[in-house]
Order: sequence, then C-alpha cells, then structure tokens
Amino acid sequence: MVQPIKGFSKLSKEDKIDWVARNYTVKPEDTKEILQTYWHSDSELQKLHDEFIENTISNFYLPLGIAPNFLINGELYAIPMAIEESSVVAAASKAAKFWLERGGFSARVLGTEKIGQVHFIYKGDPEKLQAFISQIKPQLLKDSSEITKNMVKRGGGITDIVLVDKRDAIENYYQLHATFETRDAMGANFINSCLEQFANTMLRETENYKGFDDNERDIDVVMSILSNYVPGCLVRAEVSCPVAELEDEESMTAEAIADKIVRAVRIAQAEPYRAVTHNKGIMNGIDAVVLATGNDFRAVEAGIHAYAARGGSYSSLTNASIENGIFKFWIEIPLALGTVGGLTRLHPLVNLALKILQNPSAEDLMKITAVAGLAQNFAAMRSLVTTGIQQGHMKMHLLNILNQMGANDDEKKTLVHYFREHSATHGAVMEALQKLRQD
Ligand code: MEV
Repeated sequence: MVQPIKGFSKLSKEDKIDWVARNYTVKPEDTKEILQTYWHSDSELQKLHDEFIENTISNFYLPLGIAPNFLINGELYAIPMAIEESSVVAAASKAAKFWLERGGFSARVLGTEKIGQVHFIYKGDPEKLQAFISQIKPQLLKDSSEITKNMVKRGGGITDIVLVDKRDAIENYYQLHATFETRDAMGANFINSCLEQFANTMLRETENYKGFDDNERDIDVVMSILSNYVPGCLVRAEVSCPVAELEDEESMTAEAIADKIVRAVRIAQAEPYRAVTHNKGIMNGIDAVVLATGNDFRAVEAGIHAYAARGGSYSSLTNASIENGIFKFWIEIPLALGTVGGLTRLHPLVNLALKILQNPSAEDLMKITAVAGLAQNFAAMRSLVTTGIQQGHMKMHLLNILNQMGANDDEKKTLVHYFREHSATHGAVMEALQKLRQD
C-alpha cells in the first residue's frame, strides 16, 4: 500500500517523478520516459511552465488548430483553437466559409459589467445597517484607491457598491454587492483585492460607528469573492441570409433545412436533456478559443451555464427564426475575458494566438469567441438535421482510430483514401486494416 508523503512539494522534480512512477505505476521506467518526452529540459520555456502551477512533473499538450475565413463585422479572422476533439476545427472552418459567402457574422458587446460580493452575517437592525453602509461607502472607495488607481487610469474601476438583504435565503445574511469595469483585463485579482479591502474597511468602521448598539458591531464576514456569473458582461453574435441560400449539397431543400434548424433550436430551448448537448457543442467552439487565448475556461463555462438556466430551466444559448424569407441565427452569452494580465502575455502560444487575432481588446475577443460558439452550433445543427453527425465525425476521427491500431503512414494513406467513399465505423476500420495487411 502507498504511504502518505510529507513535503512532496519540496522534493526536486526528479524525485517527484520518481515517487509517482514507483508508487503509482507498474513500469516506472516507461512512466519516466513519457514524462521526459513532453519535457523541455533546461529551457527558459520549461522554467516558465514549471512556475505556472505547483508540483509540475511534465507538460500536457493539446493540439492548436486554426479555423480561417471568419468574417466578423467586416474583418477577416483566422481563429486559433486549442482542443482535443476531432472535427471541431473542421466544423468551425466549414461554417466560417459558408457564412463568408453570405455576408459574414455580426457581433456586438451589450455590456462589460463584472461582479463581486462580500458575504456577511449581521444580527442587528436592518435599517441601521443600511445607514451604516451608505455612510461608509466613500470610505470603501477611498481605502481601495491604491488598488484601483491603475485600473482607473485605463478607464475602469469600481462602478457601484450596494447592500443586498438576503435574509429571505439565510437568516441574518447580507451582501455588499459590487460592480466593476475591468477594461481589457479579466480582472479576477483586481476584483478580489477590492472585495477584501471592502471587508476590512467595513469591519474597521463598525467599531466607531455611533449608530450601532454594541451587539450590532459584531458583523461576521463569511467571504469576499468575485462572481463568475456575469449576466451584465454580455455579447451577441448573429448571422442571417435568405432561406433560399441555405441550400444543401445533399438531398434536402433550403426551406426544409431552415425549418428543421429552427425546430431543432426550439427543442433545445424547451428540453434540458437536449439543451445540454446543444450547448456542449457551442462550448466546443468557445472553450477552444478561451483556452488558446489563455483565459479561464472554468469561469466561462460556469457563467455561461448559469446564464443558460436563468429562466429557471436549462435552455439553449442560441436562437433561430425565419421571418419574411430570412433565416436568422444568433447567440447571446456572458463572457468575462481578458487580453491583458494573467497568462495572456506570459504563455508564448497564448501570446501568439492573440497576435494572430490582431491583438484584440477584451471586447473584440468577446465577439470573436461568441462567433466561434455560434459557428460551431450552426455546423452541428446543419449536420444533425441533414446527414447526421457521425458521417463527418467518423471521417475526422479516422486517424485517431488508425493511430490506436498502430497503422503505419502508408496504411493510413490508403485507408483515408478508402474511407472517403465508405462509412468509417470502428469495426469497418479494423476490418479494412486487417484486410490491407493480409493483401
Ligand atoms: C459533439 O461534440 C457536439 C454535438 O453533440 C453538439 C450537438 O449535438 O448539437 C454534435
């Protein structure tokens, strides 16, 4: 049985690797070799990676792909996407090309408000608390000025602080609910620093506040933290074209495709099981851009899914309509993204991804990312209501299957050619490879 270890973080990297390999893997030498393969020994790049997190033992690679031909508000973008799932980049590229020939995507930012809260317990008179918070509000802002001064220079800062009475949810529970403008930064550290300062100021000011009785000074701050739910940091992206232009190479009429897409979106709006998969497809595009641009995909995921459930039931993030012969397809999502700070300039590939995107502002990146999600959903909708997704997906997945089966380069070439005309199920690929080897 493996024994608990003390001071793992203090071991050298070699010793950490050795410990994991010996204690948790059957062939320690093979484990070390794999970790080594992904390791850039003695380089500055490796040092940088080592310092991103704790206890690093290697690097974890994901493919970085490019989806070209995205026309967004009249500008042509090639979108970097970091993702492991085959067919996502191909689907994005296909949708980009499709809409390039139909006027491209339009996108606009509807708001950029970020949110943070100080959660606390107060057992006194609610009116006195309200009077206290109103009185100390200038002090809350003043005490935070060291933290906010650079952000204010860039046009951002604290936009408001209000007291929220949450006693209907939990006994004696209140919040300081603060809103922020963080310009091109995602702003998590900025917001959290402000919130912790608010909490300190509030506690300090209770001591001398004349309006409280002694027992009312006992405010208990539970925590001070930003919210990743940012319904006021919203972006909308849209495409539209005459229904007749939705023609299909396959067998369906443009009208039938438009009708079915609208119906498929309605199903995702009404039915949570379908909505989750529908939105998962959207997140294929969004996460890939968020990751490639060094943003916090967990924050984005959490915020977007909360938004999808804002009506009380989990629903589609996209909408579709047909009016006066025009097919319209759009998305509205909260996206708190940054193009400065965090990893954005530190990780060389993130830096490059942002350069490829022409050094976007946070608002530009919100638009590009929303478009990637919309494009992904359009590609999925179109496949699902026409051929189904497996035909295209298995073709893209073919190389993964062949690699898994240990096919060599010549075998891969022959079989990729063969499966252009045949259905590439796992079984069919295995059979074809066996037959090729026998021949
Ligand atoms: C697969 O990664 C994503 C889809 O399932 C999305 C959808 O069903 O809309 C194709």
